[in-house]
Amino acid sequence: MKIFATKKEITDYFNRKPVKVIGFVPTMGALHKGHLGLIELAKQQSTQVVCSIFVNPTQFNDPKDLEKYPRPIADDIRRLEEVNCDILFNPQVTEMYDDNEKWHFNMGDLEHLLEGKFRPGHYQGVTQVVYKLFNIVKPDVAFFGQKDYQQFMVISKMVEKLNLPVKLVMCPIEREPDGLAMSSRNIHLTAYDREHSLVLSKTLNWVKDNFDKTKITELQEQAAQTISAEPGVELEYFEIADGKTLHPATGASESFVALVAARVGKTRLIDNVLL
Ligand code: PAJ
Repeated sequence: MKIFATKKEITDYFNRKPVKVIGFVPTMGALHKGHLGLIELAKQQSTQVVCSIFVNPTQFNDPKDLEKYPRPIADDIRRLEEVNCDILFNPQVTEMYDDNEKWHFNMGDLEHLLEGKFRPGHYQGVTQVVYKLFNIVKPDVAFFGQKDYQQFMVISKMVEKLNLPVKLVMCPIEREPDGLAMSSRNIHLTAYDREHSLVLSKTLNWVKDNFDKTKITELQEQAAQTISAEPGVELEYFEIADGKTLHPATGASESFVALVAARVGKTRLIDNVLL
């Protein structure tokens, strides 16, 4: 695997060696099976796969979360080599941002509801860095996880609005055998948190199983009650939303998604299921 830390290195590489289909998997590292599944799918659909590892400071609304974000770069490199990733782009913050860089895009409603409400500015940071990364890597196809469903919709909107020449692919959520969605933040869960975190995936599954036979408002209320009643779990939102707009689902919605965010102990977790 080639490892590049600068924009120039990666640009020079592709100038010397044009590639038919560049597949791209942007990450913040601390790689787990969810990330590696994205790389594997990218391998199947591309000539060369670029993974980026960059803990993007502009998308963290909580400085403590940024500070304690795991950065096991040696393990990450080993994992990427095991799945035959072709290129790792691993820049420093100074390579990606000037001092005091202030611009951002406006993706409207989508970036202000659900996650956007609880993490103000988060999606502005995400679109800012993904736009920069797309300009550096120039991928033909980029792979993102359903785990961050709203992120996928926000990035799709950016690609559509700015006419970016990249195809987006959404990959299914990888879960632990007991149902917990894999996440780089799961290492912060204590044994107690880990046990009680299961209420999230269990409740999402219950909503999916009952979706055809129960009113949406009732499902939503019961799901929120179940999660709120779980010891050690503090619910932020549980919403059955329109799969496209992420506004609350209505009779006119063509697809539906149930999304949840909660603090489990000190760790914030998100999860979702397509209905
Ligand atoms: P990160 O949280 O590292 O996730 C990188 C990619 O892996 C995202 O597309 C995310 O949805 C996907 N992913 C994470 N957990 C997953 C799981 N359990 N199953 C399937 N896919 C999963 O998302 C980001 O980084 C950043 O916001 C980024 C897009 C890199 C911009 O900084």
